[in-house]
Amino acid sequence: MNPFIITGSIPPEYFCDRREESVKIIKGIAGGKNFCLLSPRRLGKSKLVKYCYADKELVQKYYTFYIDILHTKSLKEFTFYFGQAVFNQLYSQSRKMLSAFVQGLKSINAKFGFDPLTSMPAFTLELGEISQPEYTLNEIFACLENADRPCIVTFDEFQQIGKYPETNVEALLRAHIQHLSNVRFIFSGSEYHTVSQMFLSSARPFYNSVSILELHPISLSVYVPFVEKHFSEARKKILPEDIVSVYDLFEGNTYCIQKTFHEAFDAVAPGENCSIAVLRQTIDDILEEAGAGYRMMLSEIPTRQKELLYAIASEGLAEKIMGEEFIRKYSLMSSSSVQTSAAKLRKMELIAVNEGKYHIPDIMFRLYLLRLADPAKKFL
Ligand SMILES: Nc1ncnc2c1ncn2[C@@H]1O[C@H](COP(=O)(O)OP(=O)(O)OP(=O)(O)O)[C@@H](O)[C@H]1O
Ligand SMILES: [Mg+2]
Repeated sequence: MNPFIITGSIPPEYFCDRREESVKIIKGIAGGKNFCLLSPRRLGKSKLVKYCYADKELVQKYYTFYIDILHTKSLKEFTFYFGQAVFNQLYSQSRKMLSAFVQGLKSINAKFGFDPLTSMPAFTLELGEISQPEYTLNEIFACLENADRPCIVTFDEFQQIGKYPETNVEALLRAHIQHLSNVRFIFSGSEYHTVSQMFLSSARPFYNSVSILELHPISLSVYVPFVEKHFSEARKKILPEDIVSVYDLFEGNTYCIQKTFHEAFDAVAPGENCSIAVLRQTIDDILEEAGAGYRMMLSEIPTRQKELLYAIASEGLAEKIMGEEFIRKYSLMSSSSVQTSAAKLRKMELIAVNEGKYHIPDIMFRLYLLRLADPAKKFL
């Protein structure tokens, strides 16, 4: 078995660190806190929540619900997938609660099916059948409030609610959070600015209602021994300084480093050495694999936007991109065309801006662009 797990759930022995964070969340929840979990993409937010959910005490004391809302576009969809998640979880955990839930959903009660084999209700509801989402949402929350155990609800990719056509979703959820004493929430999101604005701006409904937990890369001092241990247990050799080089290249991005060591682990046999050459080859292969998707995406982007993308990739952290110097350095068109392109690229989330500095948040994509500009480029 490969100890560097990149898909599916991670058994605790292969889960690296996050001790402090998980204790903070579990204790905080027990003390009645709600959390907002923030980090750039693929640093490990979702897995951290799942890791906390698997905690022995937590499993016994709570009902836990996890809803990824990245693909939802409206309050109606939000409500539908929330309802579905609650249904599925209760189905596996408590018959009594499941029937209370089905009966409590008066607004859509008649729409539930029935499985004659198990004599259990079946979730046969269609998205279109949620005609009054606000009403249904009330009923879902009411059921959780009256549950025989406290509940934890995680809404993952929470920034998505900002993209719904309904403008009152934040206020609506806030009203629920305030009134529910039996339900704790974890809001998790990767668009730092959108989400932190929701929770930190005094003008917004969520102000002061949750504790913000910013997730950082797993620290090098924990990650190096983690990799060494798993390689040595399989009688494979790897040098600590090479682990550090990979970590630095990807700025500690959990997915990228785990993916690299996953592939490198497979590439060497027991008794063999995972050299820097093996790691270089591994990263080249990963970039090539990811390239298929990136190529498709680039083919849809107009030349001017691409020029800006290359410029930002090459700069790493690009300042004053509408300034004369930057425009001249990268032979861009004009300040106004840079401005238009930047707005388009930001909308597609291909670039991000932080305190006036632009960067490409997907590190793998950044490396891919650098390689495209210079095919001979070496990364380690
Ligand atoms: N503590 C950990 N130990 C080992 N691997 C981890 C850990 N945390 C995350 N990973 C790995 O890193 C990858 C990204 O994790 P995860 O999906 O939780 O990130 P995320 O922050 O939720 O990303 P996104 O913003 O894209 O939703 C996963 O493939 C997972 O297997
Ligand atoms: Mg996630």
